Amino acid sequence: MIEKIIIDTDPGVDDALAIAFGIKARLPIESLCTVYGNSTLENCSSNALTILELVKCDIPVFRGADKPIRGLSRLAESHGDNGLGGFSIDTAKKTSEVLAVDYYQDILSRSPGDEVSVIAIGPTTNLGLLVEKSPELIKKAKKIVIMGGVFGEKGNVTPYAEFNVFNDPYSLDSLLKLSKNKVTIVPANVCRKVTFNNEVFNQITNPDLASGLAKISQIYIDYYTKDKDFGGFDGGVMYDLLAVALEVDSSIFETQKLRVRVETEKSDTFGLTEIIPGEPNCEVITNVDVEKLKKLYISVMNRK
Ligand code: RIB
Ligand code: CA
Repeated sequence: MIEKIIIDTDPGVDDALAIAFGIKARLPIESLCTVYGNSTLENCSSNALTILELVKCDIPVFRGADKPIRGLSRLAESHGDNGLGGFSIDTAKKTSEVLAVDYYQDILSRSPGDEVSVIAIGPTTNLGLLVEKSPELIKKAKKIVIMGGVFGEKGNVTPYAEFNVFNDPYSLDSLLKLSKNKVTIVPANVCRKVTFNNEVFNQITNPDLASGLAKISQIYIDYYTKDKDFGGFDGGVMYDLLAVALEVDSSIFETQKLRVRVETEKSDTFGLTEIIPGEPNCEVITNVDVEKLKKLYISVMNRK
């Protein structure tokens, strides 16, 4: 059965580079579902259309949640005013009238099972709403790959919490409880090993694509090179790229089946993810071959 992949995203600079990569890698990407996070839902949805215009891809975009299931959203600052480094392209593309949660309900109820995978690279609120509406349907997913959480290092929102999980730990908690072992977590501590700067974009041969990706990324690269928590990176941290790359070439990653807990109580550790003893409930990415990923990115982006 041919897999169908939905990317659930808050584009977002690293989302944009990841989505462009997945499309150029010819992953069977069925659609994009947008969610608040790196900017407002409005901006993230418009940015999703811009990315599809940039890579000349015509798949539907379904607007999702504009805030977490509970509490207030925490929007990012590292992606520029419009969430895409100020970059945009005029496009005739429009988002669908169908809401993301209704789209998920429809495609999963029509699926025989083990066919539809989701790569979630923003807060997992859309999937959390699906679990609330039709808890049984999420079990029909093939895989749910989630960029989120952090283990053994500081978070990027609080010392304990990574941005996507901090925004909506309840949704991740319900996914871990319901979709037994279909979840793979791509945590920030591994993602931080992968940083892109203009040296990467200079190796992309298509001039429109290279300049578009470089323009999208400049503010993000500047933000991370000045990052104080980790003393500055040598480029923008490519969080979301790892979640998509896992589907393109899993051989460059190391994983471990582990039991993960999410802190949903309002406290200093709100949004914390931790590995605990017991029956594994997900796979966690524990390492990546950085040089192989960079080479893969450039060769895929240069495909005709
Ligand atoms: O913590 C990193 C995550 O938050 C990435 O998905 C990035 O795009 C932001 O959404
Ligand atoms: Ca993201």
